[in-house]
Parts: sequence; C-alpha cells; structure tokens
Amino acid sequence: MTLYINCCVRSDSRTDRLARAVLAKMGEYTELYLPAEDIKPLSEEMLEKRTSLLAAGKLDDPMFRYAHQFAEADKIVISAPFWDGSFPSLLKVYIENIYAVGIVSRYSENGTPVGMCRAEELVYVTTAGGPYFPEFSFGYIKTVAETCFGIKSTRLVKAEMLDIDGMDAEKILLDAMNSV
Ligand SMILES: Cc1cc2nc3c(=O)[nH]c(=O)nc-3n(C[C@H](O)[C@H](O)[C@H](O)COP(=O)(O)O)c2cc1C
Repeated sequence: MTLYINCCVRSDSRTDRLARAVLAKMGEYTELYLPAEDIKPLSEEMLEKRTSLLAAGKLDDPMFRYAHQFAEADKIVISAPFWDGSFPSLLKVYIENIYAVGIVSRYSENGTPVGMCRAEELVYVTTAGGPYFPEFSFGYIKTVAETCFGIKSTRLVKAEMLDIDGMDAEKILLDAMNSV
C-alpha cells in the first residue's frame, strides 16, 4: 500500500497537483489529508501518556494509529509546499506524532536509531514561489526517513519559481509533472 501524506493547505494547491502526477505512476494509494486530521503538537500530558503506553508495551492505543500506518506503508509520498524556507508546521507536528519508539524506530545498544518502517522509498513533493532550498525541508525529511525510520531511499520532486513575475508557472508545473 502506498501512503499519500498530503500537507497542502490550499484547495487549488500546485504541490498536490504535482504529487498526483507522482501517484499516478504508483497505482492505488491511501490518502492522509493532514489539514483535516485531529493532529496536535505534543503537550506534556500527551508526552506522559505516550511514554507510559510505550513503557507498558501498549502499542495498540489509538494514539499510535498514524505511527502504525506510516510504519506499514510500502511506499510513502509526502506533499508539502515550501513555506518560510521549510514546510508547513503541520507536517512537523505529524512527524512528532508518528515518532513512537518501538513502532517506527528503536534504539540499538549503542544508542543509535534503527529504523522499523517497511517502506523502500519515500518521495517528497514540493513547490516553491522562488528558488527552492532543500536544507530545512527535504533535507530534514531525508535525514529522519533514512537515519531514523529505516527507509532505504528518498527522492525529491519539485517545481520552483512559480510566483516570480515573468515566469510561466503553469508550464513549469506541467514540465515537472511530465518528468516524474
Ligand atoms: C505561508 C507561506 C510561506 C511561503 N514561503 C515561501 C518561501 O519561503 N520561499 C518561497 O520560494 N516561496 C514561499 N511561498 C510561496 C509558495 O512556496 C508557493 O506559492 C507554492 O507553490 C505554494 O504551493 P501550493 O500551490 O501547493 O499551495 C510561501 C507561501 C506561503 C503561503
């Protein structure tokens, strides 16, 4: 099963259009539309609950439903526009929520993370109004996916310069869609 994690806030999102071109080559998928989910930043209360559930081995608690879904996906596509040099904070909140030790990752005896996710590939799809800099968006996702979650390969699909005067945004987007 391919999991499509959609973090595109705008209803006519160009990032989502580009992601659908990627997904069209992958067959069936399950979509998780993050703006419609009840996902909150971790509070002290949530952290304490999570810590005690993990210590007790109660991994079937509903709190871990997103973590299990992520860990069990065969392929993962994430779409998120380039916002403020990174991605919408909702995506970071989602990652906080799935990062449950014992489900998506565990620690080796010497303290390094060992990934527990099934996915062979994660594709990160983004669009930017100006030039795209990957350091704090794709760069972060690649590091956490490969180093912590054990996903073997990550790939960036992007279209940039879409909001710059004089650029043909539709052509840039279509070219990117045709090259996936
Ligand atoms: C809140 C916000 C922050 C943005 N920050 C940047 C930015 O830092 N750099 C940039 O090139 N474009 C930035 N943009 C422009 C978007 O990256 C661009 O319009 C993108 O194509 C939007 O994707 P969407 O059509 O999927 O919503 C920003 C747009 C918004 C709404």
